[in-house]
Amino acid sequence: MNKEKFYITTPIYYPSDKLHIGHTYCTVAADAMARYKRLKGCDVMFLTGTDEHGLKIETVAKSKGVTPKEFLDNIVEGERGILDLWKLMNISNDRFIRTTDDYHYESIQKIFKKMYENGDIYKGKYKGKYCTPCESFWTESQLVDGKCPDCGRDVHDAEEEAYFFRLSKYADRVQDLLENTDFLQPKSRVNEMVNNFIKPGLDDLCVSRTSFNWGIPVDFDPDHVVYVWVDALFNYTTALGYMNDKYADFDKYWPADVHFVGKEIVRFHSIIWPAMLMSVDLPLPKCVYGHGWLVIDGGKMSKSKGNVVDPYVLAEKFGVDALRFFLMRTFPFGSDGNFSNELLIKTINMDLANDLGNLVSRTCAMVEKYFGGQLPADREADELDNNLIEMASALRDKYEADMEKYQFQDGLEDIFTVIGRANKYIDETMPWALAKDESKKARLATVLYNLLETVRICNTLLIPFMPDTADKIFDCIGACECCRTWENANVFGSLNECAKVNKGEALFPRLDVEKAIAELDAIKEAQKKAALPAIEVEPYTEENVDFDTFCKSDFRAVKIKNCEAVKKSDKLLRFTLDDGSGTDRTILSGIHKYYEPEQLIGKTAVAILNLPPRKMMGIESCGMLISAVHTEKGEEKLHLLLLDDAIPAGAKLC
Ligand code: MSP
Repeated sequence: MNKEKFYITTPIYYPSDKLHIGHTYCTVAADAMARYKRLKGCDVMFLTGTDEHGLKIETVAKSKGVTPKEFLDNIVEGERGILDLWKLMNISNDRFIRTTDDYHYESIQKIFKKMYENGDIYKGKYKGKYCTPCESFWTESQLVDGKCPDCGRDVHDAEEEAYFFRLSKYADRVQDLLENTDFLQPKSRVNEMVNNFIKPGLDDLCVSRTSFNWGIPVDFDPDHVVYVWVDALFNYTTALGYMNDKYADFDKYWPADVHFVGKEIVRFHSIIWPAMLMSVDLPLPKCVYGHGWLVIDGGKMSKSKGNVVDPYVLAEKFGVDALRFFLMRTFPFGSDGNFSNELLIKTINMDLANDLGNLVSRTCAMVEKYFGGQLPADREADELDNNLIEMASALRDKYEADMEKYQFQDGLEDIFTVIGRANKYIDETMPWALAKDESKKARLATVLYNLLETVRICNTLLIPFMPDTADKIFDCIGACECCRTWENANVFGSLNECAKVNKGEALFPRLDVEKAIAELDAIKEAQKKAALPAIEVEPYTEENVDFDTFCKSDFRAVKIKNCEAVKKSDKLLRFTLDDGSGTDRTILSGIHKYYEPEQLIGKTAVAILNLPPRKMMGIESCGMLISAVHTEKGEEKLHLLLLDDAIPAGAKLC
């Protein structure tokens, strides 16, 4: 029998910076979906990748003194890069596309030409407001308070000769698609697209650039590079072999069953993407799902705010499965969710350590304790069992209905309702009391078997979210391969009656909330510090000083005869200096933070003598000692300039 196919994609990520928890959220969701469909026996193609062209990449690479490709290779394939992150997070993608891959390059040139030849791309002049970070042109009316509606940053006037895609031609068909089909999910996103973008009038889309080079050149007009969104969107087809020979499964998997995308790129996926597919005469994806964002304190995560959450830190500290679970359990997929470390830790404690962890460990421990790890065949059922058995048996269908709607949070809620019911069943049946009475052994065995079965069913449905943990739990309850399947997830009683059970290690130890938060804060601080430049120097003065003015500055070698702290000041040191004139000179210097007075007595320093005298803390300071200053890892450093002691006091420095 032919397996049902399922093709799912994430957006391809911009590797202009390290990926954060928001990107991880979308990829984990797609992974959970892919694993769920595999569990159900589908033939799954799960694609993710990186979107590597455009001005932003060119600019970042330049600022780092490397070529765009060198920069990209490091951030995609290098240590702790994007591929490493997906490996760590146990992402089971079947394919990974980089838009700098040769086959993609070749396909995009052909696709662009095809649209040109069929009359949907024409040459014109583009005038508009351009947002460099988003690489988007906007019309005046689309700006919000004069700024880019996507990122809120400044835009500037830009004009260039460009190719245009006849987006306007497809406006009616796209509107119909959005309003009258299930193409765009959740439904709540449809109005925004239709009212904000289609109804005001869809302009043709500028689809080539001449102002930078880092992109795929239009093969019949190589001064132009293909607009990054055209290049990026078609990744979903080129990665299957559309217009290239690298892969040959386009016919098998296209159209996509679902594209998961964040809410800010719904516009590109639900308006531009179907229009371009119509233009090249390809079937449309079945669904674009616009998920919400993870936000911090209600606001966007951003490098400039310093609130970007690093998935490496969380996965390494709490475990990959705990993090995957938290992301899917806590936030409704279609709306924004407020991320916090506290929420993460509390969710781990409540759901994983308390509810799931306890159920598994108590059940297995009791089978070990009362029956040496293997239940006897004698059984005795009771009415008390019915509700649990009904709930566990009905779970798979309920969960399936939620998962088919991409409602991961609800699917997990279904599972945890049954887990909660099972924990209650332990309290109701009191196995420890049954164990005291030899004549209740068959009843005890039944209670424990029902618990093992409930664990097995719940655990099968947890596979998409916590694949490694699910394996461990199956091992604990002694589940053989055939009762780890979707088919058996609604058949109560599949587990071998005499399965060998072993308690294993605690799956999710309880966390001390305050301690864990403090540790995360400390890691964040250390990361911030490590990210600071090693050495920073003062900005250089642009303005020249003429030679005669410079020569007026009277720099001299001075001997430090005495040095003491100025009373009531934590900063100032008072220096008594021999400047070679025969009269002692007093200079105050705010360097107590860096030196103790006795370290400096007897040394030869440099002072400028002809500054106007200045009174500080009631003492007149006649000149200034010269120091070298710089910043190291964010901390200011100062070195008093000291000379060879052979240089006599009063020697002029010139
Ligand atoms: N390169 C484009 C996508 C092209 S797809 C043909 C892009 N890349 S991105 O790296 O900026 O964003 C990738 C995805 O990450 C987007 O779907 C975006 O919504 C998602 N997220 C970025 N920050 C996010 C959160 N804070 N929360 C959830 N998802 C977020 O856009």
